[in-house]
Amino acid sequence: LGARSQVGYGKIILLGEHSVVYGRRAIAAPIGLTVRAEVVRGEPGQAPVITDWNVDGSAQETISPDVSHQVAALIAARLGLPESGVRVDVFSKLPRASGLGASAAFAVALIRATAECFSIELSDEQVSSLAFECEQIVHGTPSGIDNTVATFGRPILFKKTDAPSGHEISDIVTPHPIPIVIGLSGVHALTAHTVAAVRAAWLHNRARYDAIFDQIDSLVGEGADALRRGDTAELGELMNINQGLLNALQVSSPELEQMVAIARRAGALGAKLTGGGGGGAIIALAGPAGAEPIRTALHQAGYTTYLTEIR
Ligand code: PMV
Repeated sequence: LGARSQVGYGKIILLGEHSVVYGRRAIAAPIGLTVRAEVVRGEPGQAPVITDWNVDGSAQETISPDVSHQVAALIAARLGLPESGVRVDVFSKLPRASGLGASAAFAVALIRATAECFSIELSDEQVSSLAFECEQIVHGTPSGIDNTVATFGRPILFKKTDAPSGHEISDIVTPHPIPIVIGLSGVHALTAHTVAAVRAAWLHNRARYDAIFDQIDSLVGEGADALRRGDTAELGELMNINQGLLNALQVSSPELEQMVAIARRAGALGAKLTGGGGGGAIIALAGPAGAEPIRTALHQAGYTTYLTEIR
């Protein structure tokens, strides 16, 4: 059998990261950047191996080699492939540890390509739930939002629940595409670390942090309405307030605060960190002057940007 190739989508969290881990709502959307896994069957008796990483031509990995091997072994076990290993090549457009969901995108790509290689039919729900197990290896206590968007590849309102699937999701359809600039801080931050720091703070004073999570949840509700109406001014304001509350959760960083300030000065209607924080990325909602002034200002300060659209 020849090589099988599949992708998983990177994502941005528009509103609601961290509080989503505590059962509050969040909005996430896929971005054009993906991770592609190419899988071929190995020799009988061989363990799954990951051979090559290709990140836009550089040697940077999507996730650490140790973790990626554990992920591949879990997928092989769950798909019942004990005797015949797989050889995997990974081509990633997503920078590692940037808050853009690279690990979930990797898991989804690998699951889909491996299943196809062995002619195993999987529903999207099955792909997402196996990717969730992979995320538990990488992150510890993921909410499930990353694997869901990496699998389904469309904007969603997400809430973790006790339902068998582990979540409630509803689609978000916008009347027109919403332009978003992604800015990379260049600082690698592990989501597992910021999630653990928020948990420690919450365990120390639950009422104080639950109140912040509740405030973020109501911003998310209003944000979903704003998106469905295409009201970018309102959405931008909600993003700015969410950033203030993420700062209150102590998951922002000097670089992220600087980038947010630069984006707002360059005309963004709203700007905030996205994903785990501590480093990683910001997102900025372009205003009437468009995305270019925001990108230029971030480039001049030495940051890398990507342009995406919520549609
Ligand atoms: O940093 P990322 O892309 O893995 O996003 C994490 C989002 C969190 O809410 C911080 C964690 C989670 O599992 O939802």
